[in-house]
Amino acid sequence: MKMRAAVLEQFGEPLVVQEVDLRDPGPDEVLVRLVACGVCHTDMYTASGVDPSGYAPTVLGHEGGGVVEKVGDKVSSVAPGDHVVTLFSPQCRECVHCVDERTNLCMAIREQQGKGYLPDGTTRLHRGDEDIRHFMGTSTFAEYTVMPEIALAKVDPEAPMDGACLFACGLSTGLGAAMNTAKVREGSTCVIFGAGMVGLGAVAGARLQGAERIICVDLSPERLELAKGQGATDLFEGGPGVVDRILEETGGFGADYTFEATGNVKVMQQAVEAARMAWGLCTVAGVAGKGETLDVVPRLLITGRRIAGSSFGGVKGRDGVPKLVDLWMEGKIDVDPFISHKITLDEVNKGFELMEAQDGIRSVIEFN
Ligand SMILES: NC(=O)c1ccc[n+]([C@@H]2O[C@H](COP(=O)([O-])OP(=O)(O)OC[C@H]3O[C@@H](n4cnc5c(N)ncnc54)[C@H](O)[C@@H]3O)[C@@H](O)[C@H]2O)c1
Ligand SMILES: [Zn+2]
Ligand SMILES: [Zn+2]
Repeated sequence: MKMRAAVLEQFGEPLVVQEVDLRDPGPDEVLVRLVACGVCHTDMYTASGVDPSGYAPTVLGHEGGGVVEKVGDKVSSVAPGDHVVTLFSPQCRECVHCVDERTNLCMAIREQQGKGYLPDGTTRLHRGDEDIRHFMGTSTFAEYTVMPEIALAKVDPEAPMDGACLFACGLSTGLGAAMNTAKVREGSTCVIFGAGMVGLGAVAGARLQGAERIICVDLSPERLELAKGQGATDLFEGGPGVVDRILEETGGFGADYTFEATGNVKVMQQAVEAARMAWGLCTVAGVAGKGETLDVVPRLLITGRRIAGSSFGGVKGRDGVPKLVDLWMEGKIDVDPFISHKITLDEVNKGFELMEAQDGIRSVIEFN
């Protein structure tokens, strides 16, 4: 079939919205009609050419929400008409990681996905004779996508897609960091560094876990104001003095849980240093630049602090994302403030510009 999609033709150049071809889904695959898709840093990072594993041409986009149109012969968990959120982090429910509660890092299709192919090593995207590679196994800057069944989370059909799509990446990452990775305890003190989509999700997650004190640290007053709306009790300006301030405010000990959601290794270091001696847990969600390292004084660890990394918030996508969407539908998560701009597919490059200007949290593409 023919459809419109935003293609990354050349690194560092604007995406080109054009007509491309999409082949039918294979036996384990699903054709999804996109309804909404968030524009995320990872899309822009790949488009810029800085990502060493990037490739072109490819159709970017990974924060998709849509409706199932058609399924392959072997597909049983979704059917035409179902509402789904796309998962760049799939859940096969069979691999050594999927059957273990300690991780969400499914191994089933990692290798082919990383190279831009569907699990059988081919693409469904093409234009004439030329194959176009898939991005993150999702390629949701397009009117339609074909994805493996194991990479789709079936969600409440009542959930508006412009909000549901945010659970495909940043929002679930932040919520999950607090709820799954750190498993924040009731009555605890949390510090969240960074008030973007991920950090704000972590603020909400800490609140849902019953944290008593939630300190959010950012450089932007507007973003800190959004953190207040998600349940932050204290708003601190980031910078060199912020660890001392956190220690002062926590009886000299530090916080029970800290979260890093900036991608800056200096801030990661602050998050470790702001964690409480004896049991403080620092959860790192930010993605650092290639080759950067985290500097930690080992004594901080011997005296009881721990560091954990969190990918997609430790959320096993097919099981976890529908539950998070349900929390939203029950009124426990306020998603509207994250939808800063609504744009069309043709305006996708404007979504990148708004992100670069730190104008709002998310631009969401709406498809007709
Ligand atoms: N682990 C995962 O699975 C996963 C998923 C999605 C995104 N991420 C990563 O999470 C990070 C955050 O993503 P986002 O979409 O929220 O980004 P964002 O750019 O919207 O937010 C980052 C925030 O950090 C703030 N900040 C910058 N320097 C700071 C400092 N010194 N002190 C305090 N705050 C500071 C910025 O003002 C901004 O509000 C990125 O590195 C992103 O790549 C990770
Ligand atoms: Zn993302
Ligand atoms: Zn698996």
